[in-house]
Amino acid sequence: MRKGQHVEIRDPSWTFRVAWRGKTLMRWNWKRALLQRFLPIPFSARNAEYSLLASTDDDVRPSAQLLRLGIQAIQRAADLRLDALDQRFPPNFPYPPSLWPGQQYRLLAALAEILQPRQVIEIGTGAGVSTLAMKQYLPPDAQMATFDVAPWSRHPDACLTQADFADGRLIQHTDDLSDPAVMQRHHALFSRAELIFLDAPKDGVMEPKLLANLQQVPFTKPPLLILDDIRVWTMLKVWRGIPYPKLDLTSFGSWTGTGLVEWGRGV
Ligand SMILES: C[S@@+](CC[C@H](N)C(=O)[O-])C[C@H]1O[C@@H](n2cnc3c(N)ncnc32)[C@H](O)[C@@H]1O
Repeated sequence: MRKGQHVEIRDPSWTFRVAWRGKTLMRWNWKRALLQRFLPIPFSARNAEYSLLASTDDDVRPSAQLLRLGIQAIQRAADLRLDALDQRFPPNFPYPPSLWPGQQYRLLAALAEILQPRQVIEIGTGAGVSTLAMKQYLPPDAQMATFDVAPWSRHPDACLTQADFADGRLIQHTDDLSDPAVMQRHHALFSRAELIFLDAPKDGVMEPKLLANLQQVPFTKPPLLILDDIRVWTMLKVWRGIPYPKLDLTSFGSWTGTGLVEWGRGV
């Protein structure tokens, strides 16, 4: 049998793949299938994820300042509107970005308005929904840098347009910040950041590397780091391992988990 013509069985990301001449014949996510058999989801939902409950007395606690910020952000998110963003969203989607609680966008906008950061960094541009939610509520002289490994213009559901970049306040970098050498190139930018939003692949591999690189940044003052998807299985250890004051605001952000961290602040 020549190379490339055999049946291969691989197991990346808990999936058996059977392929013939590079074409996938069968794919089976065995871990999820077994979990669903032995721990079936006890109710019906449009979408569901496995997660874990754990004690918090033995984890790093939020500071009084972070608690106050969280309460203020919840109150503001309850009132603010993202109508213009909703209108950019694909109409066939089951819910708009402004659905809240359940999605993070109004909480992000509220935090942008309350903190009035001069420099925002987003890691994971995607379609640009979170980019636009925050940008709308930033001060006029604020700069926002959004990072992704893929350009926003190639996203099939891109909400961003060229016009969003016209005033020079928003810039996208197509760089992988989990690479220490790449992060090093952006240290000057990161050192000025006052608000950082991390919403990347949530594979539990990229995020620990990124956070390790963030440890090396000489921040002018400790930024607020917002993490998305902290209740997703692969992100549980990442969130638990953060050694700075932190607050899980999942009930007021994304249903997959939203957390705030005073990055670099002593406990
Ligand atoms: C969930 S999407 C982001 C959604 C976006 N924040 C929003 O709310 O509209 C995750 C994004 O992370 C990007 N991504 C994956 N690996 C990355 C990496 N190493 N660095 C930066 N972005 C990455 C993916 O290309 C994808 O666009």
